[in-house]
Amino acid sequence: MSNLTWSTTYYSGIRVPWVPTREELLDIVMRLANINSDDVFYDLGCGDGRVVIKAVKEGAKKGVCVELNSTLIEKAKEGAKAANVLDKIVFINDDFFNVELKDATVVYMYLLTSVNKALKPKLEAELANGTRVITLDFEIPGWKPIQIVEVSLPMRTARLYLYIKGISDK
Ligand SMILES: C[S@@+](CC[C@H](N)C(=O)[O-])C[C@H]1O[C@@H](n2cnc3c(N)ncnc32)[C@H](O)[C@@H]1O
Repeated sequence: MSNLTWSTTYYSGIRVPWVPTREELLDIVMRLANINSDDVFYDLGCGDGRVVIKAVKEGAKKGVCVELNSTLIEKAKEGAKAANVLDKIVFINDDFFNVELKDATVVYMYLLTSVNKALKPKLEAELANGTRVITLDFEIPGWKPIQIVEVSLPMRTARLYLYIKGISDK
């Protein structure tokens, strides 16, 4: 088993494991995000970068891959290089609480409800109205989803939530 198959990041006592978004969900995430050539796509806790790589391949102007785990961020860079999109992605090896989000037009988060809750004030303060926020499996407590997509996977049902800043947070 590779040492990249399971990793755990701790911050403020909250445990967030690396569990990659399954490949079969990526097209659905892109459809929900409605990616266009003006988009700046952030993945907060980007893991091996697969979602942000897909977003720029789908036409986003820029991707931002924020990841605390330095091994994973190197893996994300390798993936972006292999996909010929290295120049379109900014890689930030830091805690996402330290990263300014104000140029984001799409934010993706596959974290935990507790972490989404902790991030909510930052999203409300920094995101422009109209920014699409997509979460996998875990809601943003108190925000109203615009759309929920359920996808049957072999062992479970995945749930994708689409929020729009300025509507969902009212
Ligand atoms: C469930 S994984 C999702 C990975 C990727 N977004 C995907 O969907 O394939 C969560 C990721 O968030 C990272 N992470 C957790 N807390 C973080 C933090 N405070 N700042 C940056 N990255 C963090 C973890 O290291 C892990 O790679």
